[in-house]
Amino acid sequence: MKIITVLGTRPQFIKASTVSKLFQIQGIIEEIIIHTGQHFDKNMSDIFFNQMDLPQARYNLGINQLSHGLMTANMIEKIEPILFKEKPDGVLVYGDTNSTLAGSLAAAKLGIPVFHVEAGLRSYNRAMPEEINRIFTDHLSTLLFCPTENAFCLLKKEGIHNGVVKSGDVMFDAYIKFRRLYKSKEIEFDLQIPDIPYLLATIHRPENTNDQSNLTSIFAYLDEINKELKVILPLHPRTKKQMKYYKIHSEINLISPQGYLAMLNLLNGAELVITDSGGLQKEAFFTGKKCITVRKETEWTELTDAGVNFLTTPENLFNTFNQIQNIICDFSARPYGDGNAAEIIVQDIVKYFA
Ligand code: UD1
Repeated sequence: MKIITVLGTRPQFIKASTVSKLFQIQGIIEEIIIHTGQHFDKNMSDIFFNQMDLPQARYNLGINQLSHGLMTANMIEKIEPILFKEKPDGVLVYGDTNSTLAGSLAAAKLGIPVFHVEAGLRSYNRAMPEEINRIFTDHLSTLLFCPTENAFCLLKKEGIHNGVVKSGDVMFDAYIKFRRLYKSKEIEFDLQIPDIPYLLATIHRPENTNDQSNLTSIFAYLDEINKELKVILPLHPRTKKQMKYYKIHSEINLISPQGYLAMLNLLNGAELVITDSGGLQKEAFFTGKKCITVRKETEWTELTDAGVNFLTTPENLFNTFNQIQNIICDFSARPYGDGNAAEIIVQDIVKYFA
């Protein structure tokens, strides 16, 4: 049996590291990876393949920095001939990026079963390109692996009943697997973790980076917060570009994007997290840190419901920071499974072919 995995962005490398390793160990299914090239910098791509022992991609399509439609179309155009050539029995996709949509559309059009990891997430905000990608991918998929109970119920509500599996979240698996390593003395980090209390921030979503007023407010308030609690922010290439474009300067500690282990290390030492990332909201929870999310909504509603994740707008960022200082949070819930999501996923794919 042969499957093709289509991926292309940082969070997908992290998610795939758990499942791909199992395919390798079990040796029942041959996996071929197509890297679309959506994220291509060394710090946004290579470091994850090397550090997380992700098998090298057989195909690298080198498609990036295009408009959404053009990017997705170019990917489909290049994926289809690979599917003809390799004749896989299934195509595996992760999350909600243009690479996810391109992989699932190319496969579904050829009648190849699609397996979707991180199925059933919704923001109910169609202005997000990811929302459109998720909806299409879920409705094209044969097996749908849900990270949470909420995602599982949501698919049922949309009328998707067949092939829906509550697997748990592979990002929780990745955290469990790699937390041993990030504490290891043998791992050398280029980065100096400060001895003083600090806050870890990441900002990269287009609704924040591509709106001058939002991006200006965010960095103005991060500067204010920095006077009370040192702010460290690994700078996403998109945010860097937009800061330059809008001529935004900041006093906070801007560092280059980090590898996953350095990121866990930074997170572990942080007092608090401010982010608009999907993945980091959950990792803040895994490590027992309060999280302020600079978005109107989140797909990970179990965290807002549990009162450990606080949504805010760019204009209200400083107020929210002040308001949550003394709130005591309970991190005991376990909504993301038992750390064996990858095992369930691989097992179910093997069963599907049996
Ligand atoms: C979101 C989108 C995804 C899109 C991506 C673009 C959702 C649910 N997903 O993912 O479709 O492709 O944005 O970037 O909306 N990390 C590092 N080093 C860093 C910063 C982060 O390793 O310097 C790690 C975090 O620890 C986490 C992961 O990267 O594991 C999160 O990736 P991020 O780029 O923030 O993407 P998401 O917002 O999760």
